[in-house]
Amino acid sequence: MRTIILLAGIMMSLSTVHADTSRFLWGAAFSSHQVEGGNDKSDWWDWEHVPGRIERGETTEVACDHYNRFREDFALAQQLGLNTVRLSVSWSRIEPSPGFFDPRELNHYRDVVMDLRARGIEPVVTLHHFTHPRWFHEAGGWTSAESPKLFAAFAEAVATALYPHVSIWITFNEPMVQITEGYLKGAYPPGISDFKTGVKVFENLVRAHAAAAKVLREHTPPSAKALAVHGVGIALNLNVFHPAHDPATEAGQEDLKGIAVLEHLSGWAALEALQTGHLAWDIPPIPALKKGHREALDVAEAAHSLDWVGVNYYSRYLIERDPSNDLGVRWIEPPGGGTYPEGMGEIVKSTERHLSDRLPIVVSENGIADALDAQRAGFIQRHLESLRGAISTGSDVRGYWYWSLTDNFEWNSGYSPRFGLVEIDYATLKRTVRPSARWYHDFIANHPEGP
Ligand code: GAL
Repeated sequence: MRTIILLAGIMMSLSTVHADTSRFLWGAAFSSHQVEGGNDKSDWWDWEHVPGRIERGETTEVACDHYNRFREDFALAQQLGLNTVRLSVSWSRIEPSPGFFDPRELNHYRDVVMDLRARGIEPVVTLHHFTHPRWFHEAGGWTSAESPKLFAAFAEAVATALYPHVSIWITFNEPMVQITEGYLKGAYPPGISDFKTGVKVFENLVRAHAAAAKVLREHTPPSAKALAVHGVGIALNLNVFHPAHDPATEAGQEDLKGIAVLEHLSGWAALEALQTGHLAWDIPPIPALKKGHREALDVAEAAHSLDWVGVNYYSRYLIERDPSNDLGVRWIEPPGGGTYPEGMGEIVKSTERHLSDRLPIVVSENGIADALDAQRAGFIQRHLESLRGAISTGSDVRGYWYWSLTDNFEWNSGYSPRFGLVEIDYATLKRTVRPSARWYHDFIANHPEGP
């Protein structure tokens, strides 16, 4: 009898009471390639099958088998009381060859979003989360002037197939990571390392966002207005950068100049372009660009192309001037690691300073790799406290999506970083809800209107 009561208690403690989606969006995020398994028509598939690229030679044949087990994963999201799940659709599955949009895959994603909705969970759909169809890569990827048009056609196929079940869209996840890793450092496909190419790609991503945003807005149902945010967003990777030296010193002033370049590149240039339609490059001479780069591009179609802004925030870095590095700066992990909860509020405030349109903010990713689950609950709690501080001083933050719902394939690092609220046993694919996820459930239940 006692056992039954105890079991009932545990079940109760994960009872599904969703927070009201008109107030605050509580959720968790993941991307298709990192969990689905079997995305064999993508550039990442080819990348990860080159020996030596991914730690321990790990690949995504199976990943979490989320493609076949999405119902099981969403049942867990439901138990956790999430009212939003941020997912991505796989471009390479949907458009395996140019212009052919596979109806079976579009139906699959329709099943995915409808399953979430049937559970009272609002789907948040990201179109681009780092991976591309192989053919797109072979056709020049984002260096091609055709790329915005190609992306918009993909957006149209997805938006039409999922209508009217999706109200919250993200065009690009971390466009600057795509540019830095893919076209400046060459650490992600297509493995290019060339600053001028990176600049061109940036322009094409802005134009692609604008073209897709138009289509997505046309396919956002009128009922979306009842949600805390709706329409088109972008998820920017925003780190907190602090000077390595005392800003009162000359070295500290140099560090601050380096930080200005980094911040401009990683977040503010894109955010400005997507609001004003002007993409302003203002890079002083750095080792990669001896003469610097000053250019004002007219991207009029991108003006006012956001309905909300997503902030992906993970960590803080100390920045030091370093002439031997391409960008003229060196990133240093602070003593004790990069975790810096106060940065959550700081990054929200600095994002707001770069808003000319009145855009609400959502924390579109925040998370920690913690296999032992010893730090996760505390990590989330402290970041939410910082967020609460920002909100209480007037910031318009409407949601928080933990990265990630389940453990997953962490790009070049393979499967060892464990970001999940839910643990995956990769040998059996068994899912186990971590204690921190139960903590998150209770926090959400007690804070339906936000942290
Ligand atoms: C983000 C990225 C995710 C995930 C996460 C954890 O930058 O969007 O795909 O990898 O970092 O490192």
